[in-house]
Amino acid sequence: MAKLTIRVEDRVGTISPMVYGHFAEHLGRCIYEGLWVGEGSPIPNTRGVRADTASALRRLGAPVLRWPGGCFADDYHWRDGIGPRDARPRRVNLWWHDEESNHFGTHEFIELCRQTGAEPYICLNVGSGTPDEAAAWVEYCNWAGATARSAERGANGSPEPFRVRYWGVGNENWGCGGRFAPDDYAREYRRFACYLQGRSSTPIELIACGHTTPDWNRRFLETLGDMRMLDHLSVHRYYNCGHAVEFTDTEYYNLYPRALQVENDIVDAANTLAVFNRTGRKLGVIVDEWGVWHPEARNDNGLWQRNTLRDALVAAAVFDAFNRHADVVTMANIAQTINVLQCIAQTDGEKTWLTPTCHAFELYKGHMGNASVRVELDDVPAADARKADGAAVQLPILSASASVSPDSKRLILTVQNLHLKEPCELEVRLRNAAAGKAAAKVLTAGDVRDHNGPDAPNKVRPKRFELAAKRGALHATLPPHSLLSIEAELR
Ligand code: AHR
Repeated sequence: MAKLTIRVEDRVGTISPMVYGHFAEHLGRCIYEGLWVGEGSPIPNTRGVRADTASALRRLGAPVLRWPGGCFADDYHWRDGIGPRDARPRRVNLWWHDEESNHFGTHEFIELCRQTGAEPYICLNVGSGTPDEAAAWVEYCNWAGATARSAERGANGSPEPFRVRYWGVGNENWGCGGRFAPDDYAREYRRFACYLQGRSSTPIELIACGHTTPDWNRRFLETLGDMRMLDHLSVHRYYNCGHAVEFTDTEYYNLYPRALQVENDIVDAANTLAVFNRTGRKLGVIVDEWGVWHPEARNDNGLWQRNTLRDALVAAAVFDAFNRHADVVTMANIAQTINVLQCIAQTDGEKTWLTPTCHAFELYKGHMGNASVRVELDDVPAADARKADGAAVQLPILSASASVSPDSKRLILTVQNLHLKEPCELEVRLRNAAAGKAAAKVLTAGDVRDHNGPDAPNKVRPKRFELAAKRGALHATLPPHSLLSIEAELR
């Protein structure tokens, strides 16, 4: 029997709610059709925002939404997306080989955030923009006084400032965001950051573009010098192995180490920040794009792919990694919330269905804002797997994380049996506390390749799960390829 001990007193840090965040780009059917249908659409909407997908985000308590890209951000000029919609210019959507109507712009984005409850996170254009254009956008959104730009916002229907707190200074600036060398980006970053802070009436936080190669981060921070100009450093992590639905058992196991590479990305970025940070302030690591990118998601289909139970389980293992590093991870944003890559919902005309990944978010949402506590796993069998570079690894078949509510009255444990064929008997014990009344939900399906679709929207969904309590411990038999979420009173 596998044993899991929760060290209730051994706190890692507060799990920032922002870790369960989302990302939406002008790409494929993410914005248009996925989130925005316009007021005149027969698809139910509230002031143009698609009602069913907005409600899915609201149900998850979506804490933050990153926009407008992605690669799109560094070719986006925000003035194109304000003012009367029918007068907005139609442009080329460079990176996604499409045309952009600009019907969804800053005001529509803020409307979407208000309807879903998400904090807005705007990514600025560094690659093809100027510091002046970026600073003007901050002022347009956040200035509470009576400047020409805040008056223009008022004239466009929003006298109250938008109070956007999170601002990304470019996206993937080592690639589609201008193909900068790290030191050139550092100089550019400094120039942009210099003009942003003072344009907002409310506090803002700046996010610099990092990389999964630690050398980029080191060279960027070395050249930047002044760490007061930055609040967070971001990295992106995508992965795949085999196809979206057709994959072998070996490919299933091999996907885990590829996804969990994100843990090394986080540790590397945090360590590099620690070397240069002399500010006494905490600087965070943000994973503002992550998820599985199957070969089926291509430019010509708007990066659309099927999302199976496997994707949800692997996402859960990534959530566990975020929880384990709650002391440094300040935000994460799955790519991309609707219809694109590892999304939480997909649409086909009027029809919408939730993906298994949405249900994984649901089972983890109780962790938001809790204190992450250490978990020990013993007597856990392992499966053979290989990393992306071919190196053999032993993959423990259990992945878990636990957290305690701010009032220390509730515990949440998420635990996954990732074995494809074998159930796993588990005993859960608490150190320095006892569990009272507990309830659990399980996410699993007959086959790990199962997924939801327009004709079977609920094939994969969470169900209630019965736990047993024996001699001060909780007992559960986790089905193969399943994810369990347990909420218990703490005594
Ligand atoms: O999410 C799709 C793309 O992946 C984003 O636009 C880009 O930042 C990343 O390379």
